[in-house]
Amino acid sequence: MTEVTLAVVGGGLRGLTYARRAHATGAGRVVAVAEPDPQRRAAFAAEFGIAPELAHPGWKELAAAGRLADAAVIATHDQLHTDPAVTLAGLGYHILLEKPMATTEREAARIADAARRNGILLAVCHVLRYTPYTRVVRGLLDGGRIGRLISVQHLEPVGWWHDAHSFVRGHWRRQDTSAPMLLAKACHDIDWLVHLFGRPPARISSFGSLSHFHAGDAPEGAAERCLDCPLEPSCPYSAPRLYLGCLGDPESEFWPLSAVTPGRTEEDVLAALRTGPYGRCVYACDNDVVDHQEVVMEFDDGATCSFTMSAFTPMEHRRTRLFGTHGYIDGDGTTLRLVDFRTGEEELIRADDAGAGGPSAADGHGGGDEGLTDAFLAAVASGDPSLLRSDAAESLMTHRVVWAAERARLTGSVVTL
Ligand SMILES: NC(=O)c1ccc[n+]([C@@H]2O[C@H](COP(=O)([O-])OP(=O)(O)OC[C@H]3O[C@@H](n4cnc5c(N)ncnc54)[C@H](O)[C@@H]3O)[C@@H](O)[C@H]2O)c1
Repeated sequence: MTEVTLAVVGGGLRGLTYARRAHATGAGRVVAVAEPDPQRRAAFAAEFGIAPELAHPGWKELAAAGRLADAAVIATHDQLHTDPAVTLAGLGYHILLEKPMATTEREAARIADAARRNGILLAVCHVLRYTPYTRVVRGLLDGGRIGRLISVQHLEPVGWWHDAHSFVRGHWRRQDTSAPMLLAKACHDIDWLVHLFGRPPARISSFGSLSHFHAGDAPEGAAERCLDCPLEPSCPYSAPRLYLGCLGDPESEFWPLSAVTPGRTEEDVLAALRTGPYGRCVYACDNDVVDHQEVVMEFDDGATCSFTMSAFTPMEHRRTRLFGTHGYIDGDGTTLRLVDFRTGEEELIRADDAGAGGPSAADGHGGGDEGLTDAFLAAVASGDPSLLRSDAAESLMTHRVVWAAERARLTGSVVTL
């Protein structure tokens, strides 16, 4: 297969993940990067052998150099997706764009429009569509194994420490600097559920709030930082326990530790926790995104779906129950238990034979990161868009379902799509 050349915009965690996969398989080669952090830029350029003149300090400088590669990976933060995506689409780059597409409906529509006008391939990183597990679930539904799908119950167990890391202390804690949590975290789940049903819902409602991670729930005597706090040893959200515990484990050092500090010693971690955002008490941060949310959807034929996103869980694979007219499936992200109503028999189906990893970013999202990268590079190399499990228009549609759910939550109403 032809080797696809890549320009990576944003040499952080996600940019690295896709770049490493492309090099590991040999299907792609990174030839340019845009990354403002000089340390990250130098490390990225060294790892992938990028010429110094092709290591740019930002996406604008990279775009000013014209088209440098077949495709671009856009892995900047949520609020910096639209301008690079529209500009690079205009230069003719095929684009692998991190989710969420954009933080407003108007901007996401601009991106989808730019992809259509310029005739490029644009894949949004909805990695769940690309896991071996999803392939099996879709195969069972398409093969009629449980008859007509009548309802679905789906849980996204964000995980107590992951929520504290990303959505209380970290990048995704505020709507004005990132996005509502349903968009930042669970646009994956809404996209996946729409993918299973094969169409968008007709009506949607939602409830949810920030119930725990605020000053009103702080235990008496809590300090502003974990390192000064007498309650730290018994607190579930202790930052020293979480981050010192990452040291020595390469996966945990890649994520979540590298967001906290580039250092890898106990002193580096303690220094970051003394002054940086990740050492703050979870009850004394400037976060405003929800810590739990429900979404209920109804489809045109009366089928229904309920979705729960919660911080107050272990961090695990998503869990899903699918209720059909002729059968039932209970899935935990790796294994599916199927009960066939015609025979009463049960079948256990393991879906991780492809060596898929755990649910986290460090684990590659159950094989989704690898599956997406491989599919995108194959689609670009062959010019065949059918190798992608969604295009820009489909991703825009599923993002619109997320925005409708947020409108329903904020207005206390049922939104018709
Ligand atoms: N698909 C998934 O499952 C998944 C998982 C985690 C994060 N994400 C998304 O991926 C995106 C990146 O997240 P991350 O965890 O890699 O963040 P990160 O902070 O590790 O990386 C972002 C990088 O962008 C760089 N940057 C900032 N301004 C720039 C500019 N003008 N030009 C080029 N680069 C610039 C930053 O310096 C940083 O290194 C976010 O939108 C996030 O929501 C997706």
